[in-house]
Amino acid sequence: MEPMTRTVPHLSILLLLLMALVACNATGTGDPAASKIDVRPFGATADGTAANLFVLRNGRGTEAHLTEFGATLVSMNVADRGGERADVVLGFDDVSGYESDANQYFGSTVGRVANRVAGGRFTLEGRTYQLATNNDPNHLHGGDRGYSHRMWRAEPHPSLASVTFRLTSEDGDEGYPGRVDATVTYTLTEADELIIEYSATADQPTPVNLTHHSYFNLAGAGSASVLGHELQVNADRYTPADETLIPTGAIESVAGTPLDFRAPELIGARIGELDDTSALGYDHNYAVRSRALKGGPGAVMAAGPVAVLSDPSSGRTLELFTDQPGLQFYSGNFLKGAKGKGGAPYAHRSACCLETQGYPDAINEPGFPSVLLMPGEEYRQFTVHRFLVD
Ligand code: GAL
Repeated sequence: MEPMTRTVPHLSILLLLLMALVACNATGTGDPAASKIDVRPFGATADGTAANLFVLRNGRGTEAHLTEFGATLVSMNVADRGGERADVVLGFDDVSGYESDANQYFGSTVGRVANRVAGGRFTLEGRTYQLATNNDPNHLHGGDRGYSHRMWRAEPHPSLASVTFRLTSEDGDEGYPGRVDATVTYTLTEADELIIEYSATADQPTPVNLTHHSYFNLAGAGSASVLGHELQVNADRYTPADETLIPTGAIESVAGTPLDFRAPELIGARIGELDDTSALGYDHNYAVRSRALKGGPGAVMAAGPVAVLSDPSSGRTLELFTDQPGLQFYSGNFLKGAKGKGGAPYAHRSACCLETQGYPDAINEPGFPSVLLMPGEEYRQFTVHRFLVD
């Protein structure tokens, strides 16, 4: 079956953009006409394929830098309360860094199945599939060379400060059944929102669970720690996991645990009280409220943020909106000081990820929301990152 293709962002994205442009004009902030994309060289992969850096810019001067390798967000330059800009996501200066072992999925689009699959195994329609166990004993983030480590095809939409990336994942790719045609569209609005819209179709039943894996430090990438950031997560429950970070299947209340971020709290305040697991810090899946929204980014934003991250020192705040049922909060526990952009060392817990997705190991847990994509269906996901200052 020929995959569905689109050459422009989904209509709902366009509507949201229009709303943002109108809002900007009404308040007199920003100049919508200035929105654009610059394309710059971003080095070449080991096999000699040239990569590009797509610089999306809005009228306020906010920038989102993207590359085709992993459909990755390389930089996000946002102002602090004094108007000072900083790049608030971890990454590398060119594509070779993203190909190296130091790349811990920085800013990438993760798939075919983000997070862990127990033993790298699942059974579909009577057939058992064995995937790479690249996070021994489990499968992690799509395997040895998942979507985060592949060259996507880029289609910039310059008048909208928007880029669509496309990837074809063949039948048998990393052991998964069926061919998947995936797209991810990033759009920067005049209201400093980075909208990420995903879609995928498959020609056989197969699990699909895509996520965005930016590491945020709102004081600026390379700052020493994220423990002084404040976090709010609008979730009453989470999925407890075993020592290899595979959910037990239970869904439990966060009440009375260090996972309770229903009221804003410093990330570092209770991190030492977490049970001693191999997670080494926060690395938990929240069952977030009011999910399974249909209707695009407008509906997703109207439901309110699933998480709010803020840095008291700079005043920068990130609000996160999604239609996904799960949110993995990961406090950068496995960062070990490898050097990133501009040679800055990325230390243990110097950034955190807020990954909107299906639940980990959902393909093996009938009680979890399904991540199965059937032929003829379309996988859709909207996640919006809104940057503000307090
Ligand atoms: C996160 C995951 C962590 C770790 C990290 C990559 O999404 O929750 O356990 O694997 O990715 O280093």
